Amino acid sequence: MKQFLSIVLLGTALAAVGSAGTDGEISFEYHRYEELRKALVSVWLQCQSITRIYTIGESFEGRELLVLEMSDNPGTHEPGEPEFKYIGNMHGNEAVGRELIIYLAQYLCNQYQQGNETIIDLIHNTRIHLMPSMNPDGFEKAASQPGEIKDWFVGRSNAQGVDLNRNFPDLDRIIYINEREGGANNHLLQNMKKAVDENTKLAPETKAVIHWIMDIPFVLSANLHGGDVVANYPYDETRTGSTHEYSASPDDVMFKSLARAYSMYNPVMSDPHRPPCRKNDDDSSFTDGITNGGAWYSVPGGMQDFNYLSSNCFEITLELSCDKFPNEDALKNYWEQNRNSLVSYIEQVHRGVKGFVRDLQGNPISNASVSVEGIDHDITTAKDGDYWRLLAPGNYKVAASAPGYLTVIKKVAVPFSPATRVDFELESLMERKEEEKEELMDWWKMMSETLNF
Ligand SMILES: *[C@@H]1O[C@H](CO)[C@@H](O)[C@H](O)[C@H]1NC(C)=O
Ligand SMILES: *[C@@H]1O[C@H](CO)[C@@H](O)[C@H](O)[C@H]1NC(C)=O
Ligand SMILES: [Zn+2]
Repeated sequence: MKQFLSIVLLGTALAAVGSAGTDGEISFEYHRYEELRKALVSVWLQCQSITRIYTIGESFEGRELLVLEMSDNPGTHEPGEPEFKYIGNMHGNEAVGRELIIYLAQYLCNQYQQGNETIIDLIHNTRIHLMPSMNPDGFEKAASQPGEIKDWFVGRSNAQGVDLNRNFPDLDRIIYINEREGGANNHLLQNMKKAVDENTKLAPETKAVIHWIMDIPFVLSANLHGGDVVANYPYDETRTGSTHEYSASPDDVMFKSLARAYSMYNPVMSDPHRPPCRKNDDDSSFTDGITNGGAWYSVPGGMQDFNYLSSNCFEITLELSCDKFPNEDALKNYWEQNRNSLVSYIEQVHRGVKGFVRDLQGNPISNASVSVEGIDHDITTAKDGDYWRLLAPGNYKVAASAPGYLTVIKKVAVPFSPATRVDFELESLMERKEEEKEELMDWWKMMSETLNF
């Protein structure tokens, strides 16, 4: 990840200062690549104390994969503070998400400055990463078509013709074997970074995002698409390989709740009487504006399941519009439909159980495992020993363990929100052995004194 700060960029952006006004002043238009850069820089200039721009790499044609970070301490992971991301425009011709992420950045910056308590709390307690476009090359291709009607496929793939949402390592195949035969239940790419770098089938955009997912302790994420209107949750790939089959992940209950937290604030998505986008579309798996991915149609190599199976991050896929690339004058309407959902979904990162895992001296234990009885999906602690375990309301037994330490199990009651704080202090087995040895020595001393030998 390289820091993105160039004087050249600053120069070109100065003209755009002040264009991000209040909600009413957001200019609801499409942003081509250069305009997108300017829009992000303009937010950064307006809200410098809470933002940072960085890039996670480049597209095949050399466009930067730009991210705007919003946090009270931009540039650092704060111990105990969860990280969140939105990714848009992975399919380059699905343009609404790209624009909504730009408007969201402008909105959060404006509301923060206007003293909106909800937004201030959110930014002070969350590290938010916003990537408007994962496929800037595809977008340029789609946007370059003359006229207002865009082809259904032009610009979907990256410049190499790779569909990025089929290009991720297919970890579902591995987890489905592990479910039957035993094996890891998460972090399936552990110790395989080199294999990722050497894999020639992965597009540069995919590789950059894989590194991003592995490097930052993301807790929650959404991937914004278009072509339908629904919130889609894991698993996306079916167990048997059939086209339509409900494919529950171990966190099915929580995923449904997360998807609902998005759909319920979007009046179109949650409308039970919404007609399908196209006459022959099969929406039979949709309920309350949400669907299991596999039940809708199977997607191997998608980004959503990859997040869940390679990291601690829970991701859902949001389909935001029937039209993939609607006319510009519809963009304001899409913003209004999605604004509360976009904010509500970020707030979900503060649910479940969170805390720290430390040793008896108070030193953080990173890469410790946090598991929940009855849910076969372990998450791990970040480098400060901090962890976040998203959970639906209920009573749970949560265990923290690490090699060389005694496991600690705690009973936890989880409300809807906020997250319940649960810290763990693990005793190292070495210390335990020392203690036992001392106890034995004391006993032996006492015995020998009593028996007088
Ligand atoms: C503050 O932000 C929240 C979340 O977006 C929004 O619902 C609320 O209307 C805002 N308050 C004001 C006074 O604008
Ligand atoms: C984390 O722990 C796992 C299992 O104990 C181990 O395989 C892996 O190498 C560890 N990762 C790091 C970065 O230490
Ligand atoms: Zn898509």
